[in-house]
Amino acid sequence: MAAAPDDNTPDPSIAELIAARPHLRMHAMDGLTMEDVPLGRIADEVGTPTWIYSAGALRARYRALTGALKDAGLDAHPHYAVKANDHLAILSLLRREGAGADVVSEGELLRARAAGIPASRIVYSGVGKSERELRLALTEDIGQINVESGEELRMLSAIAVSMDRIARVVPRINPDVDAGTHEKISTGRARDKFGIPFDEAIALYAEASRLPGIEPVGIATHIGSQIMDLAPYRAAFGRIAELVRALREKGHTVRVVDCGGGLGIPYRNQPGPSLAGLAGVIKAAFHNLDVRVALEPGRWLVGPTGVLLASVILQKQASGARFVVLDAAMNDLVRPAMYDAWHGIVPVGSADAAGPVSPGDVVGPVCESSDTFARGRLLPDLGPGALVAILDAGAYGSVMSSPYNARPRAAEVLVDGSDWTVIRARQPHSALWADEIVPA
Ligand code: LLP
Repeated sequence: MAAAPDDNTPDPSIAELIAARPHLRMHAMDGLTMEDVPLGRIADEVGTPTWIYSAGALRARYRALTGALKDAGLDAHPHYAVKANDHLAILSLLRREGAGADVVSEGELLRARAAGIPASRIVYSGVGKSERELRLALTEDIGQINVESGEELRMLSAIAVSMDRIARVVPRINPDVDAGTHEKISTGRARDKFGIPFDEAIALYAEASRLPGIEPVGIATHIGSQIMDLAPYRAAFGRIAELVRALREKGHTVRVVDCGGGLGIPYRNQPGPSLAGLAGVIKAAFHNLDVRVALEPGRWLVGPTGVLLASVILQKQASGARFVVLDAAMNDLVRPAMYDAWHGIVPVGSADAAGPVSPGDVVGPVCESSDTFARGRLLPDLGPGALVAILDAGAYGSVMSSPYNARPRAAEVLVDGSDWTVIRARQPHSALWADEIVPA
């Protein structure tokens, strides 16, 4: 398995982690705050584990993204990748900022619509959309369906004809570019399951333009997630631009280029690509092609805006090692277990945060060793009841949680200035078996 590219970056200190996240601050009296709300107050009232998101940070990030695209002179439109965090409060906030949505299932499409995102601003991605899902997309008349195979294209054509609809189709091309990211989230190499092989793109576009019920309107690509280098984007977009030219030479109309998502975030404060850099790469590839640019950012928008607040259950010494056992676990945040992901972990109490540090493993109570958030992390002494915030948990956090070990879904809170709202109540235990049926 390929390692994540930032594996050798040294761990930043607690102070460095906080300083790099403008919505977080450490106060002598209140401890760690998000915007103007002490996280300790939320723990007192809602308990832990709890996901907490900063509305201010989310708005600021959305505006920074659209600002960078505008500054580059691009006609570019973000379609937020709903999978990163599908909470209606997050979707509604982004809708108010003007975002569209990138969805990959019936559930995500219905969520996006429930949050009021106009159908015309919805893009449907994914390697396997069922007939029922394609019908829903056509019933809703969403803006764009990204098809990933000839098989899917033909299925969509038949469905559209049966419904007397026209599907606006954007074939997703696999450019065979290695995004240099973790093996499990790389999507743009020829061996990955995603997209239409580059060499088959022109024939497929021609077929799409002949098929009834289908209107091909552009080309899409998405090469992976947590991409920390612009070079793979440059390579992929260069190939897509080449394809747009070739298609137009053959007389096809190409109005849209969908650049996908994938922009990474500095979990470890490591240097990464800037928005201006990404906008520049998009511009360099497409500026003279007169296309509408679509983007599908997920992690970059929401990841840094959230934390998972947890309490220390106990600190245990074993075989000379220290284990800090939290009340949050892999069932809440699975990224460390699943991708060896590194997340900053910061004490919430100001006295805790100032204490002398020593290495410890930060783990959850779930009964397997993969339930480990961090190994050998430099942290102060953290006794029972101490609070910690696991950083950058806004994307692929709550959405990937499970009820493993009969652990209910954690509560969620949205902070906005000095206000905060419980946007998901902690799931009661009885809900865990509410839909189970015991045969007589
Ligand atoms: N568009 C498509 C077609 C995608 O498949 C994805 C993510 C995105 C956009 C958004 O990518 P982003 O901007 O968030 O990188 N669970 C993994 C990440 C899986 C990403 C899947 N596809 C993780 O926790 O790292």
